[in-house]
Amino acid sequence: MAELPKRKLGRTGLDVTVLGYGAMELRNQEGYRRPLAPGQAQQVLNAVLDAGINFIDTSIDYGESEENIGKYISHRRGEYFLASKCGCPAGVDEPSMRSGDRRHSYTRENITAGVNQSLKRMKTDYLDLIQFHHGPSPQALKEEGSIETLLELKRQGKVRFIGSSSTLPTLLDHINMGAFDAFQIPYSALEREHEEAISQAAKAGAGTIIRGGVARGVGQRGQGRTDTWRLWDRARLDDLLGDMTKMEFILRFTISHPGMSTTIVGTLNPSHLVDNVAAASKGPLPASVYTEAKRRLDAAA
Ligand SMILES: NC(=O)c1ccc[n+]([C@@H]2O[C@H](COP(=O)([O-])OP(=O)(O)OC[C@H]3O[C@@H](n4cnc5c(N)ncnc54)[C@H](OP(=O)(O)O)[C@@H]3O)[C@@H](O)[C@H]2O)c1
Repeated sequence: MAELPKRKLGRTGLDVTVLGYGAMELRNQEGYRRPLAPGQAQQVLNAVLDAGINFIDTSIDYGESEENIGKYISHRRGEYFLASKCGCPAGVDEPSMRSGDRRHSYTRENITAGVNQSLKRMKTDYLDLIQFHHGPSPQALKEEGSIETLLELKRQGKVRFIGSSSTLPTLLDHINMGAFDAFQIPYSALEREHEEAISQAAKAGAGTIIRGGVARGVGQRGQGRTDTWRLWDRARLDDLLGDMTKMEFILRFTISHPGMSTTIVGTLNPSHLVDNVAAASKGPLPASVYTEAKRRLDAAA
């Protein structure tokens, strides 16, 4: 299999593969549209590592995701950097009740309980990155002393670096706070609202973790589910494909952003994983294709 290029995750200095893995798909929650087959989580997670991917993102909120990581790849802990989230309700034992929709709290008690719980669930002594989930305001973080709490956990060796998963306009406040080592940011050719903010985060020395980097995929499960992919047609991007598939194009477009460190694409499908690794291994789009794609997307937006 082709080797994945690596980039520095900003000031963390971690060398992360440009393609990471978003482990939200492993949630296996009751009522959720994607139940896992027996053995599926084990197979996918090990295939991710076998492919050379070295960055995995998860959250307390993603149903069974953290437990699956603990169960199936904690014996390979040296092969991956592990990022989870905080502020999510800790102590929710029933996986089907864990959800990003539930109220988040950035108190010392909830954050500390959440990190300890993540360590236990993922059978590890440390998280490489802990990210505030759902971009709390700087005011809320200040009132609760939340940054101090994370720095304390860092001193205890339970987390190595701190970050936030947020969106505009809070993201800019977080960049300006100067407290974060990395940011998780949504972005793709079809959702470019954060393009400039990614550059700003990188310029400030932070690592950038891109979610939504394949715009949730094409085909039955992706294209058609949202309006997002209509922009593809309006911008006539098919003309620029050459011998690339849409998925290769959109993934390499994301990787072409000079401020991007890694993009955490989620998949449960081993052949999609192979395709994504092959696409990411080719690196950024040719410069002329990238420039023309951006010109067309600007015109069509
Ligand atoms: N607030 C937050 O912090 C937040 C919010 C959302 C997500 N996240 C993180 O970001 C990660 C990714 O997020 P996302 O779900 O928004 O976006 P995504 O990675 O753009 O989309 C994932 C979807 O794309 C499909 N896909 C992947 N590769 C494909 C391929 N080669 N061909 C066709 N379809 C393909 C997958 O389906 P198949 O399984 O069929 O391949 C999956 O349903 C999550 O896992 C999570 O870690 C964080």
